[in-house]
Amino acid sequence: MNVHVTAPGLVVLDDAAAVAAEAANRIVAELSSRPSSVLGLATGKTMRPVYGELVQAYRDGRVSFAGSTSFNLDDYVGVPMQHPASFPRFMNETLFDKVDVDRSRIFMPDGNASDLAREAAAFEAAIAAAGGIDLQLLGIGSNGHIAFNEPGSDFASRTRLVSLAASTQVANQGPFAGGETLPEFGITMGIGTILEARRIILIATGAGKATAVARAVKGPLDPACPASILRTHRDAIMLCDRAAAAGLS
Ligand code: GLP
Repeated sequence: MNVHVTAPGLVVLDDAAAVAAEAANRIVAELSSRPSSVLGLATGKTMRPVYGELVQAYRDGRVSFAGSTSFNLDDYVGVPMQHPASFPRFMNETLFDKVDVDRSRIFMPDGNASDLAREAAAFEAAIAAAGGIDLQLLGIGSNGHIAFNEPGSDFASRTRLVSLAASTQVANQGPFAGGETLPEFGITMGIGTILEARRIILIATGAGKATAVARAVKGPLDPACPASILRTHRDAIMLCDRAAAAGLS
């Protein structure tokens, strides 16, 4: 395997499988050194192979989640748990049902809460009560979003109700039936909240992320590309495959 560190905090690996293995190894190392770590978790297609690797590591006896706490980044507003696009369902099916997590220490912002402002405040309070997030896993939208912090989001934003960009609705429409109304709103950890994580691992795979990665790594520090702010974090790393890094050479 070829590994190229092309900029501070940027690691380019051959393919999506190598990126997933590297991200999972870092999470396994985190939990090995500190079993009570607080993890920040993400949904999305990019995360599937990462969670696949973590489930395998658990089955091989290389990791336990029993002492950990986790906070998910975001949720759709108004998508029921049984829907194929549901984020809680995604987390259960790809990770939580397959490892030894303590269900009482799983936190996901609930986009079906009756009072979303209150839900957002409670979520922030739960992160603080857990002592903050030790290791945050992040994906990136093709428009540069992180979690559901769409372009234009304030870099100091906290967990809140947000409108989804039209491009995000299109990018995420896979699990929705043709003709079904796509969610317009989400509840998301804010950029300010994300930046308080002690360590951040952003992963990006595939050619569809190349423009966003290039803007995040070498474009202006600008809310137009929310991921650009990660360059100011003292312990953030971006793991990309060659296709996602294609705009950087
Ligand atoms: C979604 C999620 C993000 C995710 C991103 C990329 O909308 N809210 O947290 O990182 O978009 O998703 P994917 O991995 O499916 O490309």
